[in-house]
Amino acid sequence: MNTALKNDSEIYEILELETNRQKNKLELIASENFVSPAVLEAAGSVLTNKYAEGYPGRRYYGGCEYVDMAENLARERLKKLFNAEYVNVQPHSGSQANMAVFMTLLKPDDKFMGLSLAHGGHLTHGSPVNFSGKLYQATGYELNKDTRVLDYNIIQDMAKKEKPKMIIAGASAYSREWDYKNLRLIADSIGAFLMCDMAHPAGLIAKGLLNNPLPYCDVVTSTTHKTLRGPRGGIILIGKDSENPFGIRTPKGDRLRMMSELFDSTVMPGIQGGPLMHIIMAKAVAFGEALTVEFEKYAKQIIRNAKTLSDKLIEFGFDIISGGTDNHLMLIDLTNKNITGKQAENSLGAAGITVNKNMVPFDKRSPFVTSGIRVGTPAVTTRGMKEEEMIKIAEIINDAVNNFEDEKKLEQLKNDVKELCSGFPLFSEKN
Ligand SMILES: Cc1ncc(COP(=O)(O)O)c(C=O)c1O
Repeated sequence: MNTALKNDSEIYEILELETNRQKNKLELIASENFVSPAVLEAAGSVLTNKYAEGYPGRRYYGGCEYVDMAENLARERLKKLFNAEYVNVQPHSGSQANMAVFMTLLKPDDKFMGLSLAHGGHLTHGSPVNFSGKLYQATGYELNKDTRVLDYNIIQDMAKKEKPKMIIAGASAYSREWDYKNLRLIADSIGAFLMCDMAHPAGLIAKGLLNNPLPYCDVVTSTTHKTLRGPRGGIILIGKDSENPFGIRTPKGDRLRMMSELFDSTVMPGIQGGPLMHIIMAKAVAFGEALTVEFEKYAKQIIRNAKTLSDKLIEFGFDIISGGTDNHLMLIDLTNKNITGKQAENSLGAAGITVNKNMVPFDKRSPFVTSGIRVGTPAVTTRGMKEEEMIKIAEIINDAVNNFEDEKKLEQLKNDVKELCSGFPLFSEKN
C-alpha cells in the first residue's frame, strides 16, 4: 500500500480498514466494481494537479499539451467501444452527465418521462428530491403489475396522455433487456427526444451482450464505474447518423456539430469548471481495457454468474422480480421470507455480504425499509469468481436470510465468506 500516507496515521488507518473490508467481504452491490491496478494508478496520478478548463486544443489554461493527449485518447477509445460519433468524457459523475442532457434538451418546467424510482429508475430520472424532479415536470412509467417487466403498451399510452418532451430509457434496478427500437417509435409518435442512461449495463452493451441504445437514442449517458469497471465518473455519447433508422430531428449534416457544441458547452461552462484530468486518464485506461478480448470474457462471465445466482436463489424459494435476469443484477422481493430489505441488508452485512436494500415494484414499504434487496455480480466476477462460487454465495444468502436474527450463525457465515474471498485475491497483478 502507498507508504506516503503512513505519515497521516488517522487517514492511513481508514485506508487500511477499507482495503480489508473490500478484500474480506463479498461485494454484491450491483453498481460497484474493483478497478484494475492500472486504472487505480492513473486515478492517483500527477494529472490531478492540472487545470484544463475547456476541451483538447481549446483550453483556458497553458500547459495542457499532455492532458490533451490523455483526453483525446479517452475520447477515441470510447467512440470505438460504442461505435459513437460524439462523446464527452468530462462529466464528474453519472448525475452530472444526466444534468447536462436535461439542460441541453429541455427548458425548466418541461415535462419528461422516465421509469419510476420505485420501479427501478434512478434519482435523476425524476425523483422529487433531485434536480430532475425539482426543475422539470417528471412523470414516471411503471412496470406491468403481473409480469413486473417493462410493458411498452403502458409506456405508449402514458406518452400519448402526458406528451413529455423527453423519454428516458435505462434504470438502476431492472434486470431485463430494453427494446430501444420500440421506445424510439413511441418517442417519434409524440415528437419527443429519447435518451438512454445505460449506467448499469454499459460494460455489457460495449461487448454486444445486450442491445445497444446508441442507434436509436438522441443521446446516451453512462457512469464509468459500474460494469465498465473504470474510475468514478460520467460520459455522454451520440450514435452515428447513418445508423439511426428513424431519421434526424436536427438539421442534416450540421446535426453532429450542433449537438456536440450544445452538449460540450452545457458540461463546461454550463455545469462544471475544470475537468478531473487524472480521472479522464483513468477513464482512457478503463476504455482501453474494455476494448480487449479479456473484457469480453469478463462481461460474459458477469451474465453467467448473475443467471446462476438467480437460478439457485429461485431454487431456495426467493422471489426474483421478473423471474430472472438478462444482465448483471437481480432484484429480490423478500416479502415471502418475512424479512424487510433493511433487515436483510443488516444481516447479510453481518455475514460479510454487502448488498443494498431496494424498493421492489409496487412496494408498500418506505425507501428506508423496503421489501427487497438488489444483488449484482460485476465485482465478484472481477475477483475471478465463477458459477461454482455463485452457488456457494446463494447458499450463504439463504442461510443468512433464514437465520437473520441468529448472531452466532451470522458470525459463522462471515468466516465462510472470508475463506471464500481469500481464494480470490484483490488488488493483485491478475486484475
Ligand atoms: C442509472 C443510473 N444513472 C445515474 C447514476 C448516477 O451516477 P453517479 O452516482 O455517478 O452520479 C446511477 C448511479 O447509481 C445510476 O444507477
